[in-house]
Amino acid sequence: MYCLAIETSCDDTCASVVSEKGEVLSNVISSQNETHAKFGGVFPELAAREHVQNCVPVIHEALNKANVPLEKIDLFAATMGPGLINSLLTGLGSAKALAYSQKKPFLGINHIEAHLYPALLESKIFPSLGVILSGGHTILVLIEDFGKYRHISSTIDDAIGEAFDKVACLLGYPYPGGAKIEALAKKGDPQAYPFKGGKVKSNPLAFSFSGLKTAVLYQKQKTDLKQSAPDLAASFQRAAFEDVCEKISLSLKNHPIKSLVFGGGVVQNQTFQKMCSRKFPKTPLHFPPSKLSSDNAAMIGLLAFSKWKKKKASPFDLTASSRLPFFLCE
Ligand code: KG4
Ligand code: ZN
Repeated sequence: MYCLAIETSCDDTCASVVSEKGEVLSNVISSQNETHAKFGGVFPELAAREHVQNCVPVIHEALNKANVPLEKIDLFAATMGPGLINSLLTGLGSAKALAYSQKKPFLGINHIEAHLYPALLESKIFPSLGVILSGGHTILVLIEDFGKYRHISSTIDDAIGEAFDKVACLLGYPYPGGAKIEALAKKGDPQAYPFKGGKVKSNPLAFSFSGLKTAVLYQKQKTDLKQSAPDLAASFQRAAFEDVCEKISLSLKNHPIKSLVFGGGVVQNQTFQKMCSRKFPKTPLHFPPSKLSSDNAAMIGLLAFSKWKKKKASPFDLTASSRLPFFLCE
């Protein structure tokens, strides 16, 4: 069986064909980075318009690369939320229309649950701690089984990837600047500035990155950026990841967690992966392959098959939801 999956929750138009056995036959990502770079972040209305232009060509490319004709697709899936509402509608509407025309089932998928799924598929150990670090989300979740989640904490302001992007912008790099910060940090001293992640009084496991971002801005104003940029990047990155690791540690103390499962664009960061291996030597760590870390449609298709095996199809009047809560995935 084959699934055609579509992901348009933010600024990338993605389509993928995956097989029931979990093979990724194609994973097409049409990036809009150039469009949004001049605004320093995603401009929602422009993202929505580009999805309308790109969606059909990207679907064609995914089918062609997989060498699977539309008639051979058994299941259609798309991200239903969370995300930018006008972006979500294009992918979701396209999947519904294709499924309806082909008389095949359709499934709406939660983007955050899908980010965790590739690593979870490898781990299969429960309970595990899901750690989602992306441009839109910073979430810790207790995974009791496939599809069974208990929310632990989130960010109260910026997502960690958003903080990376904004700091990159302060240092003169275009959006999205996370990978640039990682590269620049390799040349700097992580202890040069005593930056720290934010504490949230009401929940010690919750995240706050806006103060850290402002601390980098104030420090930048006191220094000559030509010399200080690598140190600023390295110190910011250390502070952000130490904060994440501290909150993972605390979760390990509070819950009977047997493995750590990661998802989201930021977890590609090699410095973070090494820090986790150092700090949690006794806990199995599962990172997604790089191609399935950032937004992509293969993760949507893989999760769709797991839901489909439990005989779950979505009704055609399912609507997109920009704030779809993670724990309501089932
Ligand atoms: O998961 P993703 O593609 O999109 C969302 O669902 O938000 O994550 C994109 C985020 C961006 O903020 C980008 O700067 C960040 O992931 N990112 C990184 C790295 N590569 C991508 N952040 C830190 N280090 C990296 N190597
Ligand atoms: Zn994402």
